[in-house]
Amino acid sequence: KNNYEKKKVQLPPTVPYLIPFIGSAVQFGIDPVKFLQEQKKKFGDCFTFKMLGRNMTFCLGSEGNNFVFNVKLKDATAEGAYLKLTRPVFGTEVVYDVENSVFMEQKKFVKDALSTAAFKTYLPTIIQETKQMFMKEFEKSEFTVELFPVLAELTIRTASSCLMGKEIRDQLHSNVAKLFHDLDCGLTPLNVFVEYLPLPRFINRDRANKELTELFLEIIKKRKLLENDPNVKYEKKFDVLESLMNSDYKSGSKMSDVAVSHMMIALLMAGQHTSSTTGSWFLFELAKNPELQKKIREEHSMILTGKTDTPKKDLPDLTFETLKQCTFLDNCLKETLRIHPPIHTVMRLVEQDLNYNGLTIPKGNFLCSGITVGHLDEVKYPDPLKFDPSRHVLLEESGEWTIGNVDIQQKSARNLYLPFGAGRHRCIGEHFAFIQLKTIVATIVNEFDLELVDNKFPEIDYTQLIVLPVKGSLLRFKRRT
Ligand code: HEM
Repeated sequence: KNNYEKKKVQLPPTVPYLIPFIGSAVQFGIDPVKFLQEQKKKFGDCFTFKMLGRNMTFCLGSEGNNFVFNVKLKDATAEGAYLKLTRPVFGTEVVYDVENSVFMEQKKFVKDALSTAAFKTYLPTIIQETKQMFMKEFEKSEFTVELFPVLAELTIRTASSCLMGKEIRDQLHSNVAKLFHDLDCGLTPLNVFVEYLPLPRFINRDRANKELTELFLEIIKKRKLLENDPNVKYEKKFDVLESLMNSDYKSGSKMSDVAVSHMMIALLMAGQHTSSTTGSWFLFELAKNPELQKKIREEHSMILTGKTDTPKKDLPDLTFETLKQCTFLDNCLKETLRIHPPIHTVMRLVEQDLNYNGLTIPKGNFLCSGITVGHLDEVKYPDPLKFDPSRHVLLEESGEWTIGNVDIQQKSARNLYLPFGAGRHRCIGEHFAFIQLKTIVATIVNEFDLELVDNKFPEIDYTQLIVLPVKGSLLRFKRRT
């Protein structure tokens, strides 16, 4: 700091703190959104606070979002911020463990695989998995469950069926689910700063990565043998695994089998809790407001049969085309992601001093965007915690953004609503997540009336990397007759 004072440059205001190394870690850890909103009121859109020996500089507002999401690669990097966290979990040769240009090609391979043709094949699988889970495993006419673990299980089943390949789905009942769990335990906020804590978890995490990699390598080997066997008619698959195995870098080389395996692990981890927590908040919001459930059913029935009140037994299954037309459902999902974005903060490591509106953000700081703070902006979204899907009709009409339907390109990061990020690190799983979540929710709402238990809406748990409902949050399902 002294050096910068000597240079007579102005640093962002610093949030005062009592304990030197810890800084504001406790307040930020307990409720990051409230903490950031309070600092915004005191210091404006750009400020720095200390956390575990690091300087965290937040740039808020649409201008701040644009600055963080479109920062140049030479100025600040995601790999600097996330590598410690992700390398042990995903493995080497992928994502932040390679040059950014290589990762961009890897992202493109996945994006190409998540095509409309592939989505068409995924939809019946997602419906079948949802029915299997909710209609077979929970046979009773009325039941109450802790929702998040149930949706986590359903997400892993649907994502593995669609993205990972049938072989992985078939092995979910064996040790694969446990391996995912052990990897997951290595993804805590603490691991952003320290790679090897807490000790027992990192041993399990590293073993899980090794075993899962071996499992994928085995599957790849078997597929290659079948493909090259002249006596077998090889059936083309629409899963991402197949697509990665066949993709070519611009240089003409292919991803190594290890890289393909690690990329599959990375995708599963990136999509698992983000989707299952969004699905949980979505159902909790619907349970709070039965009118929304009714409107979703009416839209569903209207699109499938031309009438709003067709009995559920007479409704055909949703298809890719009919799902696309469910715009009210779409807007409910967008509103869920506005109030409950699973990722509340994104980070980059500053690689050389940055200038932001006359303030110098020093090399070594973390440059951060607070997604949820933007989503709850009181000017842009009056009464911000009110669940109001109609906000998105207006936003879409104004051309501000479209998502989830056909055009999933969001042109600008100069925006307050960025649940999937923006710029070079923008999410590639967004379209898949929309299809998966809309299908799951439509299938459930059609079959059940949803109710909060004791009228209690879940509290938020910010202690994990992804924003979850607190443990033990219950939802009641009543089968519609
Ligand atoms: C990136 C959110 C589902 C794969 C991101 C980012 C956000 C995000 C905010 C930007 C991170 C940053 O800038 O640092 C979400 C939400 C999801 C979701 C809200 C669901 C509701 C998925 C799924 C997949 C996935 C299903 C995989 C199929 C990725 C990948 C990146 C990413 C590969 C790129 C990371 C990078 O370039 O650094 N996601 N995601 N996501 N997401 Fe998602």
